[in-house]
Amino acid sequence: MNEHDVIVIGAGGAGLRAAIEAHEEGADVALVSKLHPVRSHTGAAEGGINAALHEEDSWELHAYDTMKGSDYLGDAPAIDAFAKEAPDEVIQLEHWGMPFSREEDGTVSQRPFGGLSHPRTTYAGAETGHHLLHTMYEQVVKRGIEVYEEWYVTRLAVTDHDNPDNRECYGCVGYDIKTGEVAGFYGSDGVILATGGLGQAFDHTTNAVANTGDGPAMAYRAGAPMEDMEFVQFHPTSLPSTGVLISEGVRGEGGILYNDEEERFMFEYGYANNEGELASRDVVSRAELTQINEGKGIEDEYVHLDMRHLGEERIVDRLENILHLAEDFEGVDGLSEPMPVKPGQHYQMGGVEVDEYGHTCINGLYTVGESACYSLHGSNRLGGNALPELLVFGARAGRHAAGGDVEQSQIPTGPSAKSENGDVDPPVDPGAVKNGGDPVAADGGAVAAPKQILDRAIETEEERIETLLERDGINHADVRETVQQTMTENVNVFREESNLKQALRDIREARAQYQNVGVSDPSRTYNTDLIHTIETRNVIDCAEAIALSALAREEFRGAHWRKQHQERKDDEWLKHTLLAWSDGNPELYYKPVILEGHDQTYEPKDRSY
Ligand code: FUM
Repeated sequence: MNEHDVIVIGAGGAGLRAAIEAHEEGADVALVSKLHPVRSHTGAAEGGINAALHEEDSWELHAYDTMKGSDYLGDAPAIDAFAKEAPDEVIQLEHWGMPFSREEDGTVSQRPFGGLSHPRTTYAGAETGHHLLHTMYEQVVKRGIEVYEEWYVTRLAVTDHDNPDNRECYGCVGYDIKTGEVAGFYGSDGVILATGGLGQAFDHTTNAVANTGDGPAMAYRAGAPMEDMEFVQFHPTSLPSTGVLISEGVRGEGGILYNDEEERFMFEYGYANNEGELASRDVVSRAELTQINEGKGIEDEYVHLDMRHLGEERIVDRLENILHLAEDFEGVDGLSEPMPVKPGQHYQMGGVEVDEYGHTCINGLYTVGESACYSLHGSNRLGGNALPELLVFGARAGRHAAGGDVEQSQIPTGPSAKSENGDVDPPVDPGAVKNGGDPVAADGGAVAAPKQILDRAIETEEERIETLLERDGINHADVRETVQQTMTENVNVFREESNLKQALRDIREARAQYQNVGVSDPSRTYNTDLIHTIETRNVIDCAEAIALSALAREEFRGAHWRKQHQERKDDEWLKHTLLAWSDGNPELYYKPVILEGHDQTYEPKDRSY
């Protein structure tokens, strides 16, 4: 067993930031990641980091834009804390050596991004995430923080107190991808999940193959609810053949979207008369698909993003990476041709329910970054708000987790007096889930000691992996493909009740098939088939949570468009969706949105761009 004070699972931007901060607080921290840190998906972030740095800008404006972008489903305390702390995080990054793009006078450049009332997106060309990851990894190395790289965490170890409010997380079980060893990681102060997104639940996504929703699914099975899972962001400019991202930075620099009649459709058809291409992402993605569905798409599939008029010098200076991506993945020269683009799954607004410090309802278990839902992005995230989020909340969680025994969570487990029961009517019962491991009782029936629980979790995972390796079953890829196809067809930008129900039926079927998967490669060394098979269970859990929550929310808000419910219904739906296991079965309930912050109160308004 590997023993430390704090275990951070995942070494993308959020995990690295959390680890650095916990270390600064004096904790012995370990990072456990299925990838080498600099291969994490944060490295694919292109456009930039929002922070109110300019004297004409303010954190209040940033907070207001974020709340409006969220379509008033963000919680004010999280939004205000985020907007206030983002500038210091960016300055800290600069002091660590982040190579930000700069103006002639040496100040850090800031470009316009969608839904922002001020140009506040700092960037490093169009490869901001890559530089951010390398800058923070240097800090991790400098501090001597232990990194268990290519260790895939498959289970959390949570105590089994009868009163769920008393449950505690002291560690996790990992599988060494290099050797096949299964081992425990014990964190006396707590565990921070930072495993990133779940784009692999869809078949057209900007996400890496590693983004399989591991964090939300593991936390869910261990007893922490998933929140607002219906809100999935589809980025307006992904390359049609691969899903590779073409940064919003192109539109930030002045790139223009055209349909097949060379109309600048964002203005021509009144989708966003003020902001045009720089409206928020939900608005632009719907506009593109409306054009395509009305026969104005190119090859009935995509629209054009044109940056030729920006000129070679500016493009090479600020967007060079985009030229390479368009050329390498689509065979298009962005200097002389428009680039084909269409909406692609990009980001999950929902995630594990956490408080303003990333703490879940399980004592000692934190979640940060895209796996978490602090209710910051609500129903739509603004471009450029993901990187500051992982810095601000990574640091907060690292600080909170370090420095003593596991903290008591401030979030009640399951529905509380403030919550309301959900009344969704799915066509099939959603899949039953079990707790993070079979209950472990010590002698006399008392709750087992944390290390005993971790030992039991290790045994369970060893048995599970053995079974997968020995069983002559079906290939997980067929199961995953079923899920990805139904999610892309039925739980996409435009959603209808019958489609959502179809997705739930398909996912239920995939879950049943998953019971019979087997891994044909018996090796224990770099067995990617085994890893992907384990991941697929997480993909199924996340996909089902998205489809079920989408069926429940009968309104149109942010990225969640419902054919039969064409308005935002503030009287009924200013509330968050929560999905939690209860006695082995998923339970849906709601809790109110918080519009009153420590500093300001927000009034829901019409949202137009
Ligand atoms: O378009 C982009 O560069 C992506 C940025 C983001 O998702 O924040």
